[in-house]
Amino acid sequence: MILKDGAACLRNLIHLFRPAASSLTSKLGACYFCTSHVASLQQPGKPSVFSSDDEYADLDWDNLGFSIKPADYMYTMKCSKHENFKQGQLSRYANIELSPSAAVLNYGQGVYEGTKAYRTEDGRILLFRPDLNASRMKIGAERMCMPSPSVDQFVDAVKQIALANKRWVPPPGKGTLYIRPLLIGSGPVLGLGPAPEYTFLAYASPVGNYFKEGSAPLNLYIEEEFVRAAPGGAGGVKAISNYAPVLKALIRAKSRGFSDVLYLDSVNRKNVEEVSSCNIFVVKGNVISTPATNGTILEGITRRSVIEIARDYGYQVEERVIPVDELINADQVFCTGTAVVVAPVGSITYQNKRVEFKTGSRSVYQELYSTLVGIQTGVIEDKKGWTVEV
Ligand code: COI
Repeated sequence: MILKDGAACLRNLIHLFRPAASSLTSKLGACYFCTSHVASLQQPGKPSVFSSDDEYADLDWDNLGFSIKPADYMYTMKCSKHENFKQGQLSRYANIELSPSAAVLNYGQGVYEGTKAYRTEDGRILLFRPDLNASRMKIGAERMCMPSPSVDQFVDAVKQIALANKRWVPPPGKGTLYIRPLLIGSGPVLGLGPAPEYTFLAYASPVGNYFKEGSAPLNLYIEEEFVRAAPGGAGGVKAISNYAPVLKALIRAKSRGFSDVLYLDSVNRKNVEEVSSCNIFVVKGNVISTPATNGTILEGITRRSVIEIARDYGYQVEERVIPVDELINADQVFCTGTAVVVAPVGSITYQNKRVEFKTGSRSVYQELYSTLVGIQTGVIEDKKGWTVEV
């Protein structure tokens, strides 16, 4: 389809050949790429002329929090119910059009991912294990009755987003480019059932620390009224429908000064599950334990990577049931997640009692954090083949 609006096409061309001139295009109005331009400029599997020069976007890089600052381009790919995804395309980041009866809006048929692009000291852009995000999206899509992109399609989309938005990847040490792939039932439904059409989207935003505490220790609150997931539910996949239900507990805890909420299992209300935004680990002596992923706990990619790093360092790592009583007697506690990275927990409040944990430079979290981030940012040699250069 060719846009009828010639002025819009002209704007696109201005933008293509002057990627830095986004201020000009934004003065002219929203800049959408017409499909014919996109198709002709993009070769399958290869970043296109959407890549801009090495200059940085105009941002206050020293004060990146975790809020949306949309990078220039997003990626879109569609398919119908019984098809496979085919070629996707980059376009300017913009609102999308959805039917009011889209399955994602009415019944929450959707999964998402989170992954990051890192800028190294020598100017390369690295991704971290994007194939694992792709596989996790496939598992989640299957659970939510959706077709999903192949691993190669997913990784290619993430590479294109990182490259096209290169000027939004923060300078080394200032943050990362958070990439958010989404898979949604975009087709219309009324009765409960899978959508007739699906949309895979990926957009990006530069981010700094997830928590307002920065890198200071977190203060967690153990929630006893609300649960996050139940056996047989979708807590183990990154369904979009897992996240809004925790807002009530999260807002309440934040209003009382806590950083985040730790949930207990829905059956016994005595075993540790996960935090609203991340997985949790407890340290006792040389043993590092984390709740086993039994269908109610998200299989975090940072979780999995930290387990491997900890084993390499000689820690005994156990994935198992962790009673809350064991947690409050731990030496150290930390959280892991793509957004959160590896974050120390300074205190946990349970049944009105606050328990404090060791944090600081000589703690286990610090050792694991430094190694993980070192690999992600190219400071430590990646002997595991975890990073992908774009
Ligand atoms: C991530 O860590 O990437 C997540 O998806 C968690 C989200 C609450 C930001």
